[in-house]
Amino acid sequence: MRKYVLGIETSCDDTSVAIVAQDGSVLAIKTVSQYEVHQAFGGVYPELASRAHLEAILPTIQNVMNEANVSPDDLKAIGVTRGPGLIGSLLIGLSTAQALSMGWGVPVYGINHLRGHMRSVDLEEQRTQYPAVVMLVSGGHTLVAHLSDPWSYRLLGTTRDDSVGESYDKVARMLGLGMPGGPAIDAAAKRGTPVLRLPRPMKNEGYEFSFSGLKSSVARHIEKHPEVSVDDMSASFVAACLDVLIAKAERAVIECQPKSLIIVGGVAASPQLRDGMAKLTQDHGISLCLPPIKWATDNGAMIGLATWDYIEKGIKPDLIPKPNLSLETP
Ligand code: KG4
Ligand code: ZN
Repeated sequence: MRKYVLGIETSCDDTSVAIVAQDGSVLAIKTVSQYEVHQAFGGVYPELASRAHLEAILPTIQNVMNEANVSPDDLKAIGVTRGPGLIGSLLIGLSTAQALSMGWGVPVYGINHLRGHMRSVDLEEQRTQYPAVVMLVSGGHTLVAHLSDPWSYRLLGTTRDDSVGESYDKVARMLGLGMPGGPAIDAAAKRGTPVLRLPRPMKNEGYEFSFSGLKSSVARHIEKHPEVSVDDMSASFVAACLDVLIAKAERAVIECQPKSLIIVGGVAASPQLRDGMAKLTQDHGISLCLPPIKWATDNGAMIGLATWDYIEKGIKPDLIPKPNLSLETP
C-alpha cells in the first residue's frame, strides 16, 4: 500500500525531508540547517546555500527513509517546494525530486512553500477550523489572508518592504546577536524592558505592513546611543513588531468573523507573539491555531502534508522553480 509522501523543502537555507501520512502524522523528519555556512556573511549567501543543499539532500533522504523504514514502493508521491524561494536552492530540491521520481516510478508534485506553512498547523493533529484568518510571519513573507477552506484564499495584505522575520534578523545583526536572529532577539527581549519608543509603521491603516522604517529607526538609535542596552532595545523592537501584528490580526478578526486565527511561519515560534495572539483570540472568543514550535520554521513535513491536498484535488503544477510564487497560485 502506497500510504506515505516524501516531503522535500529546500527553498532557503534548510535542507529538510520528512515522511508524512495523509492524517498529518510524521514518521520521520531530518533538517540540516546551514547557519554555520552563512554566519560569516551575516545573511544567507545564495550560491553557498545551493551547494550545501546539494551535499545534504541525498544522505538526508536516505536517512529519513531508513528511519521510517519506508521504501519507494510505500510512497504515494514525492512533494517538493517549487517556490517561492532562492532559485538555486529550489533547483536542487526540484531536480533531485524529479530524478528520484523517474528512478522509483513515483509521481512528483511541485508545492507552494506558503501553502506548506499554512498546513503546518495540522501536522500531527487537526487544529484548523474554517473559515479562518491566517497570518504568515516568516523570513521571506508577512501577510494576512482570509480562508474559507484550505484552497480558498483571499489575500488581505502583505508587506511593502521587509518581512517581519527579515527585520528580526537585521536588528539582531545590528545588536551583535548573530544568527538566527529571531530566537536571539526573543531571549534578549525577555531580559529587557520596552522603554524605547519606536514607530509602529502602518499600525492603524488597513492590512499592509512596512517594517523597513522600524529597522532604520533602530539603526539610527544605535548610532546615536551606542551604549544602549541590547536587552532593552530588543524588548522595544519586539513590542513594536507585536503591536503592529496584533493590531492587523485583530482588524481581520473583526472584519471576517472567522472561527479561528492561524499564525504560521518562523516568527510564529516567538513566545511573545504566541502569548499576544492567545490573548487576542480569547478576547474575541475564537480559537487560536498555532503549529508546535518545531513546525513553525521551514520543514519538509509541512510540504509533505500540503502534497496530500494537491493529490486530493488532482492539482499538479509544473516543476520549474518559481522564486516569486504567490499565495494564490498552487
Ligand atoms: O518560516 P521560516 O523558517 O523561513 C522562511 O520561509 O522565511 O522563517 C525564518 C524566520 C527568520 O527570520 C527567523 O529569525 C524567524 O523566522 N524566527 C523567529 C523565531 N524563530 C525563527 N522569530 C522570532 N522568534 C523566534 N523564536
Ligand atoms: Zn518558510
